[in-house]
Amino acid sequence: MDQVTTTLPVETYLRRVHRTFSGLKDGAVADYIPPLAAADPEPFGICVVTVDGQVYAVGDSDAPFTIQSISKPFTYALALADRGLPEVRRRIGVEPSGDAFNSISLDSAGRPRNPMINAGAIAAAGLVDGGESGDPAERLVESLGVWAGRRLEVDEEVFAAEQETGHRNRAIGHMLRAVGSLDGDPERALDVYFRACSVEVTCRDLAVMAATLAGRGLNPLTGARAVPDALVTQVLSVMTTCGMYDAAGEWLVNVGIPAKSGVGGGVIGVMPGQLGVAVFSPRLDAVGNSVRGVAVFNQLARDLRLHFV
Ligand code: DON
Repeated sequence: MDQVTTTLPVETYLRRVHRTFSGLKDGAVADYIPPLAAADPEPFGICVVTVDGQVYAVGDSDAPFTIQSISKPFTYALALADRGLPEVRRRIGVEPSGDAFNSISLDSAGRPRNPMINAGAIAAAGLVDGGESGDPAERLVESLGVWAGRRLEVDEEVFAAEQETGHRNRAIGHMLRAVGSLDGDPERALDVYFRACSVEVTCRDLAVMAATLAGRGLNPLTGARAVPDALVTQVLSVMTTCGMYDAAGEWLVNVGIPAKSGVGGGVIGVMPGQLGVAVFSPRLDAVGNSVRGVAVFNQLARDLRLHFV
């Protein structure tokens, strides 16, 4: 699609972008667990939510899917809120890894390289407090709901499959315990991590979550605070350098905003102070990013000059 004028009403513009990329059928749905392998590859939603609470949703913006790795920035945010920056920085690095998201590796200080890869997310999950219920998984799911502006639930079928097949994640969890990045039983942190990945969301939910990041932790629809303002910079910074797996550099050059993707087919992008964007389409490229998601963000970046540098 050529660059279009941005004087179009937002929904008309988004519908046009949706139409342009609905014929894009490249990529394949994630197949590492049966419930994802069986997912319908066709749904396609785009949703934009502004920090003053305008919602623009087109396509399949209300279709449910699992949040997967898009839970990582929000897990990191809760770990930061619970433990403070110094402790979290001591245990989890902030450098892009250059390795696959599930790599079994640590930095020279013996920490997971960043919170957007599995090792860092499992370490962050281990830092989440249990709160009143004493259950950190429940508290993290509740916290995701504050970001989204509604109560969210775990997809139990996906959770069971993640648990059953997550040997590599389990290896990472035990490695983290061995080097002191995790205290206590690694299975507890893994339970929190697997549950967080299995939370069911819609494209609309993700756009509200992204807009809450754009609004420095204030949900634009409910007015609830999801995280202290001061921690948002830390979260958005690691999303900028590490959010798009091995394509983070390419993403920064082409799209230029903090983002995170998940193997369920979701992608979020944040324009700080302005808006959050989410795209949902389950077919993934070779690095695990939604093909249509990447295409839509590239288009939006050209048309709306998303680039923050
Ligand atoms: O840890 C796993 O295998 C998946 N639940 C990870 C989800 C995901 O989106 C991969 N991302 N980095």
